[in-house]
Amino acid sequence: MTAIPTEQLTTEQLTTEQLTTEQLTLNYTTQAIGGSFAVHADSFEWLCRLPEAALHAIVTDPPYGVKEYEEDQIEKRGKGIGGVWRIPQSFDGVTRSPVPRFTALNSKERKQIQQFFTEWAALAARALRPGGHVFLASNSFLSQLVFAALVEGGLEFRGELIRLVGTLRGGDRPKGAEEEFSGVCSFPRGAYEPWGLLRKPLLPGMKVSDCLREYGTGGLRRTEGDKPFSDVLASERTPRRERAIADHPSIKPQSFLRQIVRASLPLGVGVVADPFMGSGSTVAAAEAIGAQCIGVEKRALYYDLAVKAIPQLRDLNPAVPQTMTLERGTRETDECCLALL
Ligand SMILES: C[S@@+](CC[C@H](N)C(=O)[O-])C[C@H]1O[C@@H](n2cnc3c(N)ncnc32)[C@H](O)[C@@H]1O
Repeated sequence: MTAIPTEQLTTEQLTTEQLTTEQLTLNYTTQAIGGSFAVHADSFEWLCRLPEAALHAIVTDPPYGVKEYEEDQIEKRGKGIGGVWRIPQSFDGVTRSPVPRFTALNSKERKQIQQFFTEWAALAARALRPGGHVFLASNSFLSQLVFAALVEGGLEFRGELIRLVGTLRGGDRPKGAEEEFSGVCSFPRGAYEPWGLLRKPLLPGMKVSDCLREYGTGGLRRTEGDKPFSDVLASERTPRRERAIADHPSIKPQSFLRQIVRASLPLGVGVVADPFMGSGSTVAAAEAIGAQCIGVEKRALYYDLAVKAIPQLRDLNPAVPQTMTLERGTRETDECCLALL
């Protein structure tokens, strides 16, 4: 386990939110973009060195399988053979990009994932203010393992967000017996991405209202139309124009990220972090909505990519998919039903 330092913010810093650039970026290679920063560092080390309770929220898309962004795996991805990155089936003559194949992980690797996220959660909990939320991308195959590890590390599980998006995972007939079992698929075709919603526990005896007053955290911001933030969000595959700006294997769409970054700051102020920044899409989303974000990326290639991509992604004007509405049910049952239009 990484040693956890004891440096703490003063009460004045916690209430005035006047963190200096140096306190947030430390002495790492850093690029300022608007009010936000891209930092070239290992997120474990960066989180460990941050002053305690420096962050209001974390919105991030980690290497779910832990190893897919290791040098050897990225090299294999480039060559298109072997490793955790596999080429999905081609449809209609279209060549698809490789996706990580998490079903290939063995029990030792699953144990490593658990340790990775438990250790990371302990560092994240230390760096967050009480009541600070974590939005963490996962996938249906590993989410149970990852979310349990985050709880073991000290975060409180608050549920899941369902990002409705068609993927190329699953849906295949049993390998080698496709004709014999033509009516079977061995795994469902992915139609959603689960995002863990976790929170640093409130201080003992504190209510959400107390936490909001004291730390500006504890709840989620309602939508711009003054609706409760929903845990099912219609989404889309990352549009071609965003992928053209930032050629990263896991880039997430601005239309989705802007909604969740907004929700992560209940009072609309504070510092959001993305400790696994990749192409900088979360930083761009924060900048686009006027929030401050610190993105941390350990690979020089992706750090350089993010520095170039963030201003361009920020300046886009994406349409939010409107394929789903929430309708209030009958007064008697007060149920909500999902209406997929
Ligand atoms: C799933 S990708 C994130 C992609 C991002 N959501 C985007 O839209 O571009 C995870 C990123 O975390 C980076 N990474 C992995 N381990 C890291 C670590 N310990 N510290 C910082 N970055 C790390 C990887 O290089 C990769 O770019």
